[in-house]
Amino acid sequence: MSRDMSRKSALCLALSLLLMGQVLFIRWQEGREPWTQYQRRYFAAQKLSARQPQVVSLRLPGGKVELCLTCHLGIEEISPSHPIEEFGCTSCHGGNPLSLDVSEAHQGLAGGGNPAAFDVAGSTCGGPGPNGAPCHEGNPDPEDNLVARVKQSLMSTKAGEVGQARFALGLQPDPFAFLLGDLATAAQLPHPLDGRSQERPFRANCLGRCHLNAGAYGDSSRSYSGGCAACHYLYDPTGTYRGRDVTIPRNQKGHGAEHRLTSRIPYTQCNLCHNRGTHSLATMTFTFRQDLGATTPVLGQGRAPSWESRKQAYYIPQESYSKCEVSLDCIDCHTRHEVMGDPKDDNHPLTAKVEAQRIQCLDCHGTRSAPPASVTLTDPNDRVFKDPRLAELGLPPLAVGSVVGFTSRGDKLPFVRFVGTKVTLYSKVTGKAFPVPIVFGSGCEQSPEQQSADACHRCHDLSPNFQATSH
Ligand code: HEC
Ligand code: HEC
Ligand code: HEC
Ligand code: HEC
Ligand code: HEC
Ligand code: HEC
Ligand code: HEC
Repeated sequence: MSRDMSRKSALCLALSLLLMGQVLFIRWQEGREPWTQYQRRYFAAQKLSARQPQVVSLRLPGGKVELCLTCHLGIEEISPSHPIEEFGCTSCHGGNPLSLDVSEAHQGLAGGGNPAAFDVAGSTCGGPGPNGAPCHEGNPDPEDNLVARVKQSLMSTKAGEVGQARFALGLQPDPFAFLLGDLATAAQLPHPLDGRSQERPFRANCLGRCHLNAGAYGDSSRSYSGGCAACHYLYDPTGTYRGRDVTIPRNQKGHGAEHRLTSRIPYTQCNLCHNRGTHSLATMTFTFRQDLGATTPVLGQGRAPSWESRKQAYYIPQESYSKCEVSLDCIDCHTRHEVMGDPKDDNHPLTAKVEAQRIQCLDCHGTRSAPPASVTLTDPNDRVFKDPRLAELGLPPLAVGSVVGFTSRGDKLPFVRFVGTKVTLYSKVTGKAFPVPIVFGSGCEQSPEQQSADACHRCHDLSPNFQATSH
């Protein structure tokens, strides 16, 4: 072997050692990258021991590339109508899709992490979507434009509660909602109680929370999201995350149960704001219920809450209710126009809850003088056919010719089905079928003129405080 050759091979050896070192160094460095650690935690949690960390790059139809899934590997697809391969992550969340650094990737996240918050929902939920088409705003059919309308609803502004408080203090002649003018919410009113001493506690204990702008009710240990997410992004009563994304802390309160948008909204979600406690106008305080404890149902674990736990948690203890007002979920009665606003009201601000109200007891039960109203579906393009819950819940098909419920305010009830004189309600949350008992022709002793819930509750009240009346 010549000296030249041996020098060459020594050099070769040195070079390959260097290269190997470099590769090892990069591997070592990569192993310390947060994203590889998130992936290792995910693999461990899912028992995928053979998998090695790898950058995950999602290419969307328009050519845009996103690396978010590299860290958020286990995250649930937000919903079948927002498929991951079409929407990716940034079409809703914003952020920096090409960065693998936690804080750089999150720079400019819409709504500080909640893209459905009302300060940003106009451009996120409002669209346009990844393909440039309008989403929940800017469509030809006003029924599809939801953002501006929900932002103006009483649940968002709290104008109804201001009206009631002002009426109680003698500051306005009726309990109607206070007209807000150009203001977006009642919390922005400079003097909601005309400068009275109660103004400050009223603002802190009432206007500041439990509405769609503030997020749902949060106590010191929990907070829940606001905007469209307040209803559509489900929380369970523990307020913690149970999905598969390891970056989301599982033991920290204030997280949705899963990364999921749904319109199968259970009563527990509405009750993040409703039925949490009682207001006192005299002291301007809000007293949280003490009876919501261990028996509060936990949703989403394949277990439907029991009748007893529903009955306990559904309403504040002094409330009256009939069977269906507990066995059904809020949205089985309250229609989309009631919770998200009605295009018919677009040009006039609602002044009272009764104007928002769409449903009455008689819409399902009829009265002693008439059976409940119904309508036959005739338009093949009717939006009721497009409801994804019909398939998700495996309900009997809905078609042209089907007969469904119809409220006296003109809303269809496509989950209340009429076959001959038989009426069946299908739960929008579980799909369970409930035969609807009909008053017409029954032994019910109501007066057909007295159809308010209060009038019915005089005889039909299952609450423990019920005092039987003579009949
Ligand atoms: C390098 C890893 C990493 C990347 C890349 C990454 N994230 Fe995150 N993300 C995290 C971690 C960790 C958290 C948990 C909260 C935190 O530490 O900020 C998180 C939290 C979030 C949250 C909740 C924020 C909050 O305050 O509630 C959102 C929303 C989110 N990420 C979206 C995205 C989107 C969209 C992308 C891509 C543009 C992305 N993430 C890319 C690691 C990452
Ligand atoms: C259709 C819109 C939409 C899409 C698409 C979407 N998200 Fe979300 N995401 C939301 C909403 C709404 C929330 C709930 C925010 C809240 O309630 O605070 C959320 C919450 C989150 C959170 C916070 C969860 C928590 O409990 O802290 C993370 C992390 C997140 N998204 C990451 C992603 C990633 C990664 C992608 C892409 C794979 C993605 N999202 C796609 C709408 C979307
Ligand atoms: C107060 C609760 C609540 C809020 C806030 C809310 N929704 Fe809804 N949404 C519902 C309910 C309940 C349904 C189902 C209505 C039904 O059963 O007919 C629904 C249905 C929907 C549907 C299904 C299709 C349709 O048009 O009926 C879409 C889409 C939707 N909401 C989008 C939004 C958007 C976007 C926002 C925010 C601007 C929003 N929602 C805010 C309660 C809410
Ligand atoms: C983020 C808190 C919050 C959530 C979540 C919420 N609500 Fe409300 N809701 C309110 C407030 C506050 C009012 C009263 C506003 C006022 O009178 O000023 C209200 C009023 C109502 C009203 C009477 C007035 C109207 O606008 O129709 C109905 C009915 C109603 N809610 C049903 C529901 C249902 C059903 C759900 C679940 C799908 C729900 N709410 C979820 C806060 C909430
Ligand atoms: C069985 C049907 C049904 C169910 C279930 C139901 N409601 Fe109602 N709700 C009604 C009817 C009917 C009215 C109108 C009352 C009247 O006729 O006086 C009403 C009135 C209301 C009002 C306005 C009156 C008021 O007291 O301020 C609110 C707010 C409300 N419901 C919220 C809810 C919430 C939240 C849930 C679920 C926790 C729910 N409802 C469940 C049928 C129902
Ligand atoms: C959306 C349809 C719907 C509305 C609106 C509705 N109910 Fe019902 N109601 C039902 C169904 C379904 C049942 C059967 C519930 C069950 O089996 O758990 C029922 C059962 C009842 C019963 C029990 C009858 C018996 O056989 O014991 C009474 C009483 C009643 N409802 C009163 C009311 C009152 C009062 C209201 C107004 C506050 C109301 N309902 C609004 C659908 C409705
Ligand atoms: C003065 C008392 C009284 C009032 C008020 C009253 N009911 Fe009844 N209701 C009855 C009695 C009694 C029955 C028969 C119970 C039985 O047959 O076991 C009944 C039966 C019913 C049934 C069951 C029908 C069946 O076939 O099983 C429904 C549903 C019902 N009522 C709804 C209502 C509604 C809705 C209102 C309010 C508009 C109302 N009731 C007001 C006394 C009353």
